[in-house]
Amino acid sequence: MEGGSLRVIVIGAGLSGLSTALALSKKGCNVTVFERAKELKEVGAGVQVSVNMLRILDSWGLAHHISTDGVILRKIVVRRWEDDRVLGEQMIMPWMQDRYNYPSYVIHRADLFRILFKACEEQGVRFKTNARVDRVDFEATRVEMEDGSTHEADLIVGADGIRSIVRQQMQEIHREEHQLRKTGDSVYRAIIDIESVPSEQLRGLMREPIGTRWLGESRHIMAYPIRAGRLYNLVFIHPTKDTPDDAGSDVPLWTTKGSLSDLREEFRGWSSTVSQLIDCIPRDVLTVWNLCDSAPLSRWIHGSVALVGDSCHPTLPYVAQGAAQAIEDAAVLGECIDLYRGDPIRNILKVFQVARKNRAERMTVRSARCREGDVSTQASAQATRTALHHADGPEQEERDKQMRAAMEGQKTSHSDHWMDMKKQDEMYGFDVVKDVRERRDELKASVEE
Ligand SMILES: Cc1cc2nc3c(=O)[nH]c(=O)nc-3n(C[C@H](O)[C@H](O)[C@H](O)COP(=O)(O)OP(=O)(O)OC[C@H]3O[C@@H](n4cnc5c(N)ncnc54)[C@H](O)[C@@H]3O)c2cc1C
Ligand SMILES: *[C@@H]1O[C@H](CO)[C@@H](O)[C@H](O)[C@H]1NC(C)=O
Repeated sequence: MEGGSLRVIVIGAGLSGLSTALALSKKGCNVTVFERAKELKEVGAGVQVSVNMLRILDSWGLAHHISTDGVILRKIVVRRWEDDRVLGEQMIMPWMQDRYNYPSYVIHRADLFRILFKACEEQGVRFKTNARVDRVDFEATRVEMEDGSTHEADLIVGADGIRSIVRQQMQEIHREEHQLRKTGDSVYRAIIDIESVPSEQLRGLMREPIGTRWLGESRHIMAYPIRAGRLYNLVFIHPTKDTPDDAGSDVPLWTTKGSLSDLREEFRGWSSTVSQLIDCIPRDVLTVWNLCDSAPLSRWIHGSVALVGDSCHPTLPYVAQGAAQAIEDAAVLGECIDLYRGDPIRNILKVFQVARKNRAERMTVRSARCREGDVSTQASAQATRTALHHADGPEQEERDKQMRAAMEGQKTSHSDHWMDMKKQDEMYGFDVVKDVRERRDELKASVEE
């Protein structure tokens, strides 16, 4: 340590790298972020700022920026694929505000990225672009760059995404195999400028602060307005067909161009609203990628190096918690550094792992260890996926019936976790930072032999 302030290197400037840099610099660390891309930017897509994310952004003084750029959804309307028939409605406002003290927003990822980046700059975080890390030296707590230079730190954080090299190296050390798994689903994603939509009626629908989900066999669509109601975000989940095999390649996962005619083909026969929306998607804005996830890792830390975000819990979009869990990682890491100031970094990281790993995996990863009937240990994303994609038939009818019942407030547990109150309390109501603070001594004792 030099001059009392902890030197931290963050690898990767995605949403998790930025939030980690911000959280740690706010706790007095001297943070440098290395990003391999030439430019700092985010992909054009929407992201949900759920209550558990907003609580943390608020503690960083950023809530008012979110309210300027984001949209508060009043409700989510679930519709049937072929005729727009309403299957269920999930009220968000004012219910969310009343129960959790925060609303829930949706926002353009680029807006969230800019808000975090500016906050980092104000904190004096240093960014190096065009700076690819080739290797981490775990013994020396040092990164080795593509250009041959090396940089030493007291703490290194791997925020390098789903194909993390830091994770790979950590696993090699522990002789562990790790494979990304293809889920069998792919995602088309597009953003429409609402002003450019010819139909006035459709423009009106798109501007409403409402999320819409269409459910069909093996497919679903999620749609909502972003950027203060000027843009419309569309996500189409469908079975993987001939999308380029991007596992193992080096190009960013999200930027493969999708074909509009393939998209039309996939959603042929869906309601006229759906096909009108597809007709409004401009050329060249459609992206496609295969959804991957992974089994839970055995560890997120080694020595003075920790993983955060998609590098250690790649997530499926069905419950929209990937970025939220990444931001929880960042906040908890910052809190641990603050609470256990003066302790060896490797011990602090052990507490970080205990405090974060189970929760993040419950929220995001398909778990092999889930116990039957115990909602809290089920992997929510995968369970939700199954429930969303029933073919028309008895299971679909039963699901739709349950949704109606949930809508009428008669039921508190449902396989679609959007509808499940217990799951929502666990996801949104739990304050991770407060939890660490309250369990300060207990957590420390739990990692000491
Ligand atoms: C379709 C879809 C929808 C989603 N919707 C939501 C949602 O609504 N809400 C939500 O919370 N989450 C959502 N997520 C998940 C969320 O996007 C991610 O979990 C989140 O962005 C965290 O990303 P990250 O920063 O860990 O990784 P990334 O965004 O992948 O960032 C990693 C960064 O590291 C850099 N990098 C990689 N290797 C190196 C290296 N060797 N040297 C230097 N730099 C390197 C990369 O260039 C990149 O900039 C969604 C995901 C998908 C696929
Ligand atoms: C932060 O670290 C860098 C590189 O180690 C150093 O040049 C800089 O002076 C440090 N800044 C502060 C405020 O300590």
